[in-house]
This record gives sequence, C-alpha cells and structure tokens, in this order.
Amino acid sequence: MILIIIAVAVIAVYVYSKYDRTYNYWKRKGVPQLQPVFFYGDAKDFLDGKICEAENTMNYYKKFKARGLRFGGVYNEKRPEWVPVDPELIKTITTKDYEYFDLHFRNIRKTLFFNNLFHMRGDEWRNMRRKLTPVFTTGKMKMMFDTLADKADGLSVLMHDLKKRQKPVELKGISMRYTTDIIGSCGFGIECNSLKDETSEFYVQGQKLFNQTSVKPTLLQKIARFINVLPSTAQLAVGNLENFFREVVRDTLKYREDNKVVRKDFMHLMIQLKNKGTITEISNADDDVYDKTVNEDGIGFEELAGQVLLFFTAGFETSSTTMSFALLQLTQHPDIQEKMREEARRIFKKFGGKFTYEGVQEMNYIECVVKETLRMYPPLAILPRVCTRNYRIPNTDVIIEKDTSLRISVWGLHTDPEYFPEPLKFNPDRFSPENKHKINPHAYIPFGDGPRQCLGMRFALLESKLGLAVLLKDFNFSLHKTTAYPPKYVVNNYIPTVEGGVLLNVTKVD
Ligand code: HEM
Ligand SMILES: *[C@@H]1O[C@H](CO)[C@@H](O)[C@H](O)[C@H]1NC(C)=O
Ligand SMILES: *[C@@H]1O[C@H](CO)[C@@H](O)[C@H](O)[C@H]1NC(C)=O
Ligand SMILES: *[C@@H]1O[C@H](CO)[C@@H](O)[C@H](O)[C@H]1NC(C)=O
Repeated sequence: MILIIIAVAVIAVYVYSKYDRTYNYWKRKGVPQLQPVFFYGDAKDFLDGKICEAENTMNYYKKFKARGLRFGGVYNEKRPEWVPVDPELIKTITTKDYEYFDLHFRNIRKTLFFNNLFHMRGDEWRNMRRKLTPVFTTGKMKMMFDTLADKADGLSVLMHDLKKRQKPVELKGISMRYTTDIIGSCGFGIECNSLKDETSEFYVQGQKLFNQTSVKPTLLQKIARFINVLPSTAQLAVGNLENFFREVVRDTLKYREDNKVVRKDFMHLMIQLKNKGTITEISNADDDVYDKTVNEDGIGFEELAGQVLLFFTAGFETSSTTMSFALLQLTQHPDIQEKMREEARRIFKKFGGKFTYEGVQEMNYIECVVKETLRMYPPLAILPRVCTRNYRIPNTDVIIEKDTSLRISVWGLHTDPEYFPEPLKFNPDRFSPENKHKINPHAYIPFGDGPRQCLGMRFALLESKLGLAVLLKDFNFSLHKTTAYPPKYVVNNYIPTVEGGVLLNVTKVD
C-alpha cells in the first residue's frame, strides 16, 4: 500500500516537474511569456472553440505589444513558439536572415498536397522557386486573361440569374465558384463549370479540402496530438482527396500528350517544365514539347501534380475570401461601393464595353479597396515560419533553437493603431497615391515578405479586382439581416471565414 502511494507521488512529482519545465521554457531563456495553462498552453480560447486560431494569435501580438515588447514566447499546447512583434525584427527574419527561417511548417509528410513549393526548403525550394517564377510574369498574366474574362462573364450571368429569384445571395460560395472555375481552367485545363452547377465534382471536392481541414479534433485526437502520436489532423483529413486530384491531373496530362494540345495555361507551362526543364512563351509551334524525351532538369509527374495543386489550394480560398470580405465591408459603406461602381462602369465603357487586362490595370480605386480588405482581413492572418538553425535574436543574447516554430501575426500588425490609425475603420484611401507612402511596408504583409513572398500575388489581385468590378457594375449589395456585422469567424478555419457565410441582399442597378 505504502509502495503504491509512493509510486503515485513520484509519478505526480515527475509529471509536475516535467510540465513545470515545459511551461517555463521561455522564461528560462529570458523571453517574456504569457500565462500558459496546463494542457492548453496559451491556446485555450482557441482550443475551447471560443475564437479562431488567427484571433488567438492576434491576442498574443496585442498582449506583447501592450507590454512594449519586440517579441515574446507562447505555448501551443505544450510546444514553445516564438512570436516576433516588431516589424523591423519581422523584416529581418523574412529577408536578411531568411536562411535561418527557410521553412513554413514543421513535420510535414510530403504526400501530394504537401509536396510543393510552399513546403520545400533549402536548395530544393530554391530550384523549384526559380523554375516556377516565370509562370507568374506580366506576359503570362496577360496570356491567361481571356480565361479570367470568360469566368467573369459566367459570374455575371449567375448573378443575373440569382437576382431574379428575389432571395438573398451567399457571396462567399459564389466567389469560390468563380475562383474555382478560374483555377480549374488555368491550372488543370478543365472546365469544371461550378458557376453553372454547384454540384460540379471538382468544386465539391475542393470545398471538402477546406471543410475537412476545419473539422474539429475530437478529445481523443487532441490528447493524441498532445503526446505526439498523430501527425497534424489537417494532413490526415485530406489523404482521401489526394487521389481524386491526382487522377484529374493524370487524365489531363494524358489527354494533352495524346492529342498534342497546346493551351495557354498553367498546365502547359508545367508540361514545359516537366519535359524541357524550363518555361518559355507558349506559341502554336509549342506542340514539340511533347516530342522531348524527359529532360534531366525536368520535373516528374508527382512534382508537376504537386505544384498544380498548390496553385489551386493557395489560390481559390484566399482570393474568394478576399472578395467576400470586400463585399461585406461594402454593405457598410454605400459611398465606397458607389465610387467603385463608377470606376468599373467608366473603365468598362472606355475599353469598348468589356473588361480587358489593360482595363483592370487602370482600376486604381478598386485596387485600394482590395488592399484595404487584405489589411482588415488577411487570409493568411498567421504567417508561419520555422527556425531551421539556431538563431541569436539581434541585439540580445537569446538563442532561438532550431526547430522552433514562429507565429507572425499579420492580423496583429494590420490592426495595430501605431501603423494604421483607426484600424477598425475600413478606409481604402489609406492606399491612395497621396497616402500610401505613409504605410510602413513591413507592417503590411498580406502576401508575406522576402524571398518567400506569395508567387501568385499579381494573379490574385487580377482575379479579385475583375470579380468585384463585374459584380459592382450591375449590382448593389446590402447586408441581409441574418448576417452578423461585425462578423463572427468559423472557429476551426485557419483562414478567417465568416460564420454562416456572407448572405447579402442584391438589387440590380440601372
Ligand atoms: C488574396 C489571395 C492570396 C493571398 C492573401 C496569398 C498569401 C500568401 C502568403 C502570405 C504566402 C506566404 C508568403 C511568405 O511566407 O512570406 C503565400 C505563398 C504562396 N502563394 Fe499566395 N496568396 C494568395 C493567392 C495566391 C494565388 C492565386 C496563387 C497561385 C495561383 C498563390 C501562390 C502562392 C505560392 C506558390 C506560394 C508559395 C511561395 C513559396 O513558398 O516560395 N497565392 N501566399
Ligand atoms: C462545406 O461546409 C459548408 C458550411 O459548413 C457546407 O454548407 C457545405 O455543404 C460543405 N461542403 C461539402 C462539400 O462538404
Ligand atoms: C443601394 O442600396 C442601398 C441600401 O439599400 C441604397 O441606399 C442605395 O441607394 C442603393 N444604391 C443604388 C445605386 O441603387
Ligand atoms: C433584404 O431583402 C429582404 C427580403 O427580400 C427584405 O425584406 C429586406 O428589407 C431587405 N433588406 C435590405 C437592407 O434591403
């Protein structure tokens, strides 16, 4: 009996001291920390389902900032994570000292969805980045514009149709169908027609990707994760979807090889990369790409499929989120909405009654609205980095240990009154030619910063501006009573997402 009591006491003391050590990691290093609690660390509000992860991370930023700190340390459950706060320090991490932080997430198994540029590091990343950069030049954007314009027409047709039904319209879903059709066509070379048909398989599978990653972990899974026996739940959940998308890419590739198809899209550029090892302009004579034996410098099928899928996952949710948050804000600001409408109509007329690539470049006000939306609602509200070599924080003696994850709160920076006066006010004029020089470029990072910056930035701006111009040219949007404003966020989405969708009243404007 006494032996059992002693054994229990020893175990209790051992567990206590271990977790006491765990939650004093930062303190021991001389890095300020918050008040972690056992099991949850500093993520209790998030893990209890009260707020989303991005809000929880924004709270770290605010708490450290309120104490006048340049950085702090937190615990994600029991894992220590470093939270840089000062934009100058963040700039150093993402640019000058990039070599120490050349990875986005830890412990990613390289299955199809994760075998891509976003998850690479070192030379593997550098080579792939060099190969993919030509995919996103101005010339290539222009080349793909016809496809974008075609999908924008589809968006307009759908809205006219929905308007007739006299019912409120859910604009997040509509925006997703638009961005899915664009990336389906430009990326995979398939017409998935989700604007015409919301049961389109491609669209349904794409939605699952984000629905599944947002499935709330069960208690058992939480505990399993806590003691490190499960890889991230996100990665488990998408496993089944990988086969669907791999087959889509395989079919497209086979069809193109059999028929020597030359199409002006991402897929063709990736075929060039696979068979020739480099990307060039696409000409009609380009069907010789299929005669090439696989080049030494070329990429393999899995690599090709991996990058194409990255364009999809990186693009469709982020851009549609941006469009729907812009519309949500516009219901609160009819004057801004009217100004956008005037610009859209003026440019539409100027370019012969259609939206052209050049026309979209002239949409300066609409661009300010998109940029302000990305300030208030950055889709990647937490910029992830992993420290890949021991790093001494500049001007301190603190060493950040290899393998430590970082949480840069983009949302925190973007809503910090020091950098954006009246941060909760939606004010596109912050980005006007007269005002934009006042913005600290390192406090505004919706597309990240440094060598790792978003490759699809211009593509994203192009499709978001075009989509909004098409919607606003003919329609007026106001808040439907069931949509909460300010919005509440879906708790388990990494990308801030409005709970219940963005349901709006739509009227036609003559
Ligand atoms: C509004 C829409 C978008 C936002 C807010 C966004 C934001 C971001 C951010 C924050 C990163 C990480 C940057 C860093 O670590 O410093 C990123 C990476 C990336 N994005 Fe985007 N993105 C958007 C749309 C797109 C689109 C449409 C594409 C492609 C068609 C795309 C392709 C990529 C790629 C390939 C990377 C990985 C870059 C690398 O690791 O080297 N993004 N994006
Ligand atoms: C994804 O989630 C939304 C909202 O929870 C739901 O309406 C939709 O049907 C889901 N889609 C799929 C394909 O599961
Ligand atoms: C748009 O709707 C709002 C609110 O219903 C209304 O005040 C405004 O006049 C409308 N604008 C146009 C151009 O129809
Ligand atoms: C939105 O539409 C509903 C039903 O059509 C209508 O009752 C309501 O007044 C509209 N709200 C606004 C703000 O226009």
